[in-house]
This record gives sequence, structure tokens and C-alpha cells, in this order.
Amino acid sequence: MRGAIEFKDVSKAYDGTLALSHFSHAFAPARVHALMGRNGSGKSTAIKILAGAVQPSSGTMSVNGREVSFATPSEAFAAGIVTVHQELSLVPSLSVGENIFLGRLPRRGRFVDWAELHKRAAALLTEMELEIEPRRLVETLSLGQQQMVEIVKAMSFAPSVLILDEPTSALAAREVGHLFELVRRLKARGVTVIYITHRMNELFELADTCTVVRDGHYVGTIEISDASPAKIVEMMFGDVAKASRPARRAVNRAAPVLSVRHLSRAPAFTDISFELYPGEVLGMAGLLGAGRTEVLRAIFGADPLDSGEISFAGQRVDKPTPKRMKALGLGYTPENRKEVGLVQMAAIHDNLILASLDRVARAGFTNRARETPSVTRQIRELGIKVADPLLPVSTLSGGNQQKVVIGNWLNTAPKVMFFDEPSRGVDLQAKQQIFEIMWAEAAAGLSSIFVSSELEELLDVADRILVLHHGRLVAEVTPQTTNLTELYQLCMEGHP
Ligand SMILES: Nc1ncnc2c1ncn2[C@@H]1O[C@H](COP(=O)(O)OP(=O)(O)OP(=O)(O)O)[C@@H](O)[C@H]1O
Ligand SMILES: [Mg+2]
Repeated sequence: MRGAIEFKDVSKAYDGTLALSHFSHAFAPARVHALMGRNGSGKSTAIKILAGAVQPSSGTMSVNGREVSFATPSEAFAAGIVTVHQELSLVPSLSVGENIFLGRLPRRGRFVDWAELHKRAAALLTEMELEIEPRRLVETLSLGQQQMVEIVKAMSFAPSVLILDEPTSALAAREVGHLFELVRRLKARGVTVIYITHRMNELFELADTCTVVRDGHYVGTIEISDASPAKIVEMMFGDVAKASRPARRAVNRAAPVLSVRHLSRAPAFTDISFELYPGEVLGMAGLLGAGRTEVLRAIFGADPLDSGEISFAGQRVDKPTPKRMKALGLGYTPENRKEVGLVQMAAIHDNLILASLDRVARAGFTNRARETPSVTRQIRELGIKVADPLLPVSTLSGGNQQKVVIGNWLNTAPKVMFFDEPSRGVDLQAKQQIFEIMWAEAAAGLSSIFVSSELEELLDVADRILVLHHGRLVAEVTPQTTNLTELYQLCMEGHP
């Protein structure tokens, strides 16, 4: 049977952690199988083993009824198994086209046939309705666009088994729609798909079955036609209480803590003006490329502005720099934790104290003992699953890395926080914990700007929502008087 995959008693032990424990399951061919479980439950480990990226400690696998073991990713490739991993693997300094055809560039004689390369890349991109020029360097793309390029690349291998590890975590609604169409087409052609996500609604749109792992153990599999969100949550967690939002407080609009006027930076955004008030959670909605991240980066001083004025905590800031803004009390958790949020090789401990070193140190000196209370506090409050805080942050599961990024900034006791997609890759329970922390901090006076591609989340969490469309601020809405369809329409079209 083409595309049938079976795990038999597969385990994977790392120092101090049993990431996967006696996992057995058969994935039937030509279906879409969701793989779910909380952060750190072993999902990525299971698919890394199947993809040849990691070696199992014990157990076997079979593909199409034949036993296999992949020593390297290329062996898995040769067997038709193509994987889009959770942490993206594009080469930033190469073009989109080169990345798609890396290692198999079309040639004419001894030379790379660039015209052919760009033609083929353009055809693949167009099939996904992506308006990305194949000659563009990957480093100039947003995280979501990079995610799409990685998916296009995977498709170009014509896989018989396609594994997607949280492919939509940085995508907005429209791109998710394109991806889903594509996955359905592949399924119709007989491709087996294993799909990891933390977005519950995606299961019911796309998946045929749902397999749940918990603490490295296989919990069970159900047909989506027999499943309900409540049932799946129960399989994953036992039970999760939905975070109860404290009653919405009237925000005091006497004096804004942050005020921006006519901010422009071509071509990303134009004439952006808004206020952020003490204790307010201000949502920011928009499609991929609408300019949300770019606006935050410019206010934080990470990118220069063409024009505009910023006032922060009562002070006019002429030329913001990250250092100056941080000193004034602004914290920023970026959407791309791999690039800018974390030092992958450094210890979890060090990553949690990175931003607040100057607060913790006395006369310029610090040591682990002095830092430990701040580190322990964030591990406890954010429920970060760590075996040992002195291990490199790269040993954490994706969702737990995300929590480290947030904990690092909360340790700076900021006045204002910019949360750029804070729940990216974070499981349902951890998400609720992050929202509870945002609300609790807001009640204590922290103001925040919250960017999310999940509109339901914005409506749940924010006091007020700004909508960006093609780099312009096109609307401001209140969650109490706006529904999901209206907000979606604003993001898509830029008007009601
Ligand atoms: N290289 C490593 N060294 C040590 N421990 C590791 C390593 N890689 C993963 N682990 C541990 O294995 C466990 C399972 O991790 P895995 O990445 O499979 O989780 P996941 O289910 O994909 O989670 P998420 O939803 O957060 O991505 C975690 O406890 C993680 O810390
Ligand atoms: Mg993972």
C-alpha cells in the first residue's frame, strides 16, 4: 500500500527526557492525519524520526508494509517522505528560487539555467497564489511568507507522504486557505499527510483522523467525523479550564502611555497614528504583509522611520533605538523566535535573563544564584516544561521556546509590551496561561500591543483592535460590538 506508515514501539530518549515512549500507530494511506498534544508531548520527535532527522532509541517503522530505517533525511526523501519542520530551514541569503531548488538546480551544460529555475519557481509560487518574485532574497520575506516558500519547496518534490509540523503557525487566514486547498488536492492524488497543529478549528476543516500523544505516550486515535473539540481537548490534557477574562475595566484615557503620529516607512506602512493607554490590551489585526510587525519594529527602534512622531511615557522620542526604548520600559517579543528572540545555543536559564541582566546585576556583576529567582519564577508562572534550566534552549519543544521568549521580557518589568504572535505554536493550555498573564499584568498597569493572526483570539483578549490593510490603519473596533465575520472582512478588504 503506497503511503501507509506504521510506527512500532518507537522510543526516543534524550539526556534526562523520554521524548517518545513506546509509540505504536499505523497511519492509513491517502488521508490527512492530525497529530496533536500539548507542548513537549513528543509530536516533533515522532515526525523527526520518520523524516530521518533523528534516530530512535528503539523500535521500528515501516512504509508501504516494508520495514525502513532512515539514517539521514535524504534517505527518507528517497522513500517519498517530505517534511516541513517546525523551525524553518531556508537559507536567508539565497533567493526564493534557489531555496526551492537547492541541491537540484536546473542546468544547461556546466551552468545553472537561471531562466529555467525562475520559470519553474514562478509556476510553483503561482499555483499557491503567492505573489512572491522568485529572485527575491529569503531574508527580505516575512516569517509567514518564508513558511509558504518552505511549503512550496516541499510540494515540488511530489511527495507520497507529506509531513507538516505546524505549517500555519505564522500564517493568516487567506494563506491557510490556500494551503488547505493544496493539501486536499494532494490527498485526492493519494498522498498521505501527517499534520501537526495547535489550532483546533483546522482539524475539523482538514483532517480525517486525529491521533493524540501525551508525555511521549500514544493516547489514542479518533475519526474526525466522531470527534468534538471537547473530546480532543480531553484526550490531550484531561481537562482545561478556559481562562476567565476579568471583567473588562474601563480604560482610563486621560493620558496615553504611547502615542504615535503619522508614522511612515516605505513601502511597509503609511501614516499610522494611534494611542495606547495605561493598562490597555490593544489588538492589531491584518493579513500577512499588512505591516503589523513592521510598525512594532519601527516603534521599538529596530528599523528606521521615514517620518512621524513617537511619544513614550510622556517623552518625545526622536530617534528610537532598541536600547533607548528598552531603558524607557518597552519590551518586545518578536514573532520569529529563532532569528531574534533566543540565543539557541545558550542555556534556558540565560535566555530567561537576557533582557533583564542590567536589572539583576549589582555594579555590573551577576551570577547564576542572583539570577535564579527570576528564572524560576517564569518557569513556574508560564509552566515551561524543562528538564534542567542549564540545558541549551534548543532542547526545548517549540511551544516551550516561545514561553521562554515571553518570560525573558516579563523579567524586565516593562511598562509597555509588544507581543508579536505570542501564542504561535503554543498549546491551548499554555495559551490560556499567557492570556491570563497578559490580563493580570494589564490589571497591574502594563499596557500591551497584541498582534495575532487568529482573529478569535484577538476578539477574546483585546480591549480594542486596530486593523491594518496594505500598511494603512483602516479601522478601529471594539470586541464587544464586532463579530468574527466583520473583523475578517476588514482584514481582507480593508473596509466593512
Ligand atoms: N535535542 C534534545 N535534547 C534534549 N531534550 C529534547 C531534545 N529535543 C526534544 N527534547 C525534549 O523532548 C520532549 C518532546 O519534544 P517535542 O519537540 O517532540 O515536543 P512537541 O510535541 O513537538 O512540542 P511543541 O508543541 O511545543 O512543538 C520535550 O520535553 C523536549 O524538551
Ligand atoms: Mg514540535
